[in-house]
Amino acid sequence: MTAPAHDPFPPGLPAGAAAVIAGTGRVGLSLAGAWGRSTGQPPLLLSRHVAEARPRLWAAGLRCPVRSLARWRPAPGLGLLFLAVPDDALEDTARSLAGRLATIRAPGWLALHTSGYHSAAVLAPLRESALAVGSWHPLQTFPRPDPALLAGIAVVLEGDPPAVEAGAALARHLGARPVILPASFKPLYHCLATIAASHAAALLNFCRSALAEIPPEAREPLWLGLQDLAGAAIRNLGGAGDPPVFTGPAARGARRTIQGHQELLSAHFPSWAGIYRSLSDALEQEKKRTGRDPVLK
Ligand SMILES: NC(=O)c1ccc[n+]([C@@H]2O[C@H](COP(=O)([O-])OP(=O)(O)OC[C@H]3O[C@@H](n4cnc5c(N)ncnc54)[C@H](OP(=O)(O)O)[C@@H]3O)[C@@H](O)[C@H]2O)c1
Repeated sequence: MTAPAHDPFPPGLPAGAAAVIAGTGRVGLSLAGAWGRSTGQPPLLLSRHVAEARPRLWAAGLRCPVRSLARWRPAPGLGLLFLAVPDDALEDTARSLAGRLATIRAPGWLALHTSGYHSAAVLAPLRESALAVGSWHPLQTFPRPDPALLAGIAVVLEGDPPAVEAGAALARHLGARPVILPASFKPLYHCLATIAASHAAALLNFCRSALAEIPPEAREPLWLGLQDLAGAAIRNLGGAGDPPVFTGPAARGARRTIQGHQELLSAHFPSWAGIYRSLSDALEQEKKRTGRDPVLK
């Protein structure tokens, strides 16, 4: 069997360099699995609670070493540190690790975090300890640890050039597509990612809940149909520069139909009436802005 064609891994970090991942949650374990598979060297995991983390690793099929986040001491040499901890814990975790990395004077170390919202600046304490720092955000939803979820996705990067270069090489090595985005755009980018994932799912979740009002035998086929419909409507949008193609009552200007939907929602699902109105208004505005339907004109 031939080995997959990967870039040499990764520039500035020869095989054998230490790989350390802080956080044994969904992203940390996904990354650990993907790293182990692609390099043949399981990374070291850092956890606040080693005894509780071990069963999580085993459940995810991982056999990586785990050390205490509070007590780990880095070895001199080259290394890549990933911080896959919650957004609000990033700064404190970086500060705590920076003190220990400073003791080995580690200019060969790089640090990347996986938050979509924060920039590399949140790792300032590590930068002050001579590490090159960056953000490495996998544009993916990780409902559970799964290394396969990293393949084929975009990974959005920014930060110090050596960290971005190594992070981009790592993304390619894992079968992902690196996208470099200046730090000032990260909050908007992450807001869009939240709308595309969580908010789109919230809309479909409402549809699924509301199917409880429909005879039971029709619910499952309708739920499958609604999911397919949502996928088709998103595919209709086309590429980043294409004129949008919308269908549905707001796009057709079917005001009586919209009024009927709103009356129904106000009567049975009042908290969704305002959401429906706001989205219909936004679609009408978008239609006015973009002009005639590009297909029917
Ligand atoms: N899940 C996603 O879909 C997704 C997608 C892209 C990016 N991200 C980003 O990736 C990062 C991690 O997300 P996640 O979904 O993997 O989170 P998660 O499943 O909640 O795991 C985070 C891990 O960090 C550690 N941790 C928790 N609280 C901590 C604290 N106060 N201080 C230090 N460590 C703490 C825990 O590991 P230990 O108990 O072992 O210490 C925990 O398992 C976040 O920045 C998130 O925005 C998530």
